[in-house]
Amino acid sequence: MKKLLTTISCLLLITSLQAGNTLKRTPSVAVIPQPARMTVGDKVFTLRAATPICLLAEAPELAYAAELLNRTLAPVLGGELPVSDVRREKGILLSLSPAMRPEAYELKVAPRGVTITAGSPAGAFYACQTLLQLCPAAAGAAAVQIPCVEIEDAPAFDLRGMMLDVARHFFTVGEVKELLDLLAMDKINTFHWHLTDDQGWRIEIEKYPELTRTGSYRPYTTIKRTLTPDNTPHAGYYTRDEVREIVTYAARRFITIIPEIEVPGHAMAALASYPWLGCKGEGYAVWCRWGISKDVYCAGKETTFEFLEEVLDEVMDLFPSEYIHIGGDECPKDRWKECPQCQARMKAEGLADEKELQSYTMRRVERFVRSRGRKIIGWDEIYEGGLSNTAIVMSRYGNQRTGEVIARGNTVIMCPAKHCYFDYYQDDDYDREPIAHRSLLPIEQAYQLNPRKDFTESQLKQILGVECNLWTEYIPDFSHAQYMLLPRLDAFSDAAWSLAPRDYENFRCRVAVMFKRYDTIGYRYATHIFQQQ
Ligand code: ACM
Ligand code: ZN
Repeated sequence: MKKLLTTISCLLLITSLQAGNTLKRTPSVAVIPQPARMTVGDKVFTLRAATPICLLAEAPELAYAAELLNRTLAPVLGGELPVSDVRREKGILLSLSPAMRPEAYELKVAPRGVTITAGSPAGAFYACQTLLQLCPAAAGAAAVQIPCVEIEDAPAFDLRGMMLDVARHFFTVGEVKELLDLLAMDKINTFHWHLTDDQGWRIEIEKYPELTRTGSYRPYTTIKRTLTPDNTPHAGYYTRDEVREIVTYAARRFITIIPEIEVPGHAMAALASYPWLGCKGEGYAVWCRWGISKDVYCAGKETTFEFLEEVLDEVMDLFPSEYIHIGGDECPKDRWKECPQCQARMKAEGLADEKELQSYTMRRVERFVRSRGRKIIGWDEIYEGGLSNTAIVMSRYGNQRTGEVIARGNTVIMCPAKHCYFDYYQDDDYDREPIAHRSLLPIEQAYQLNPRKDFTESQLKQILGVECNLWTEYIPDFSHAQYMLLPRLDAFSDAAWSLAPRDYENFRCRVAVMFKRYDTIGYRYATHIFQQQ
């Protein structure tokens, strides 16, 4: 039988844990992700609407930190804090120190004011995220009392990512922005946007208008795990202007967006739009069911590569990111085996099998992306059939596979499904949960992600970062996405950012405080973390 632990007992627990950690009795000091070093004093700083934010460095992006404070605090304090570029009494002082790592920061809250020193404007932004988490979650008064603290903080990994699949279900511009705000709260700096798949193409490409005219629409979606249609059309895509708007919105939160255009599989929406992209050249429709289509891009025809290059050119115009994700996962080889043009390509290029044809395809696309000054990321399968040493592998199968890729000399982004696939069930009582991917990933397992423990320092140098993924076959709307993400995203962010010792009980207590914040904002979350068998 399950027992619900009350928030009160958790707050008592946080008190004793913090006492053991040289922290004083301050239940409200509960920051996610956990700062590397923190000491808490007895006194408080009183923040009022008149408290100035002082930007003491000439960096335009420092204003994003002030924007964050004002966006969040103005509704609480009844007005925006004044922003100044000179030092003022009892202010929030933001300055930069080139000696610090770019995302690192120091935050000192004292009765006479708040001092933030950071390695870059991003670090100052993260310091402000921490400062906001020190404010009482449900404040609504003219003054906010912030406990005095001294914090030194820096991330464990340079890349801390989250992927959203908008192909299986579409999420609006407003919802993507809300998600970006949520990611920023957890100090996540990369949004991987899965824009194309068998079930939908979601980004406008000027040169190929059918991709969105045809490819962004499906007449129905199959219900649960059946082939029964729900008789409800599903559609949506982002215009080029909307993409630009979202990229800018993310940049103001120090989030880089990595777009993903899937090659050579997961391509039915593209084939339905332009049937000459497939081996058979006809008979394609946007998929209305889940699974993996055997129809994929024809790797034999030159026109396929011309198409991909033109699409990627437009994508790279819209997204300034250093990395472009080109998919590469789950590409059935059935059609290539039957296709005279694919077979001719294999012969001409001396490719031993269809795996090598996939590798040829990925290398060609990579060569093009590199010619534009960018780098590619691909899922594990780009490792099969040979891999260029500059490709970055997004590794979902766990440590052994990650170790193999590292041994080959490639750089890795880790997203082990066991810890990072948040479309999995949160509880083993599947009947009580909304339908999900048929695997289990309880909150504690999400929290157990800890690559720093599992790899040597020299291996860690090849791990660019970590990512959590939200595939959306069974996630039809944003409220449900929140339920699947929260609080597993918080657990992920502790693993991705925090250099503090791991402690699940301490995490649970910080989540209790985070839930109050989510209540204030109106986010939905799952409460399994407070249930015990
Ligand atoms: C994947 O999970 N198919 C990348
Ligand atoms: Zn072919």
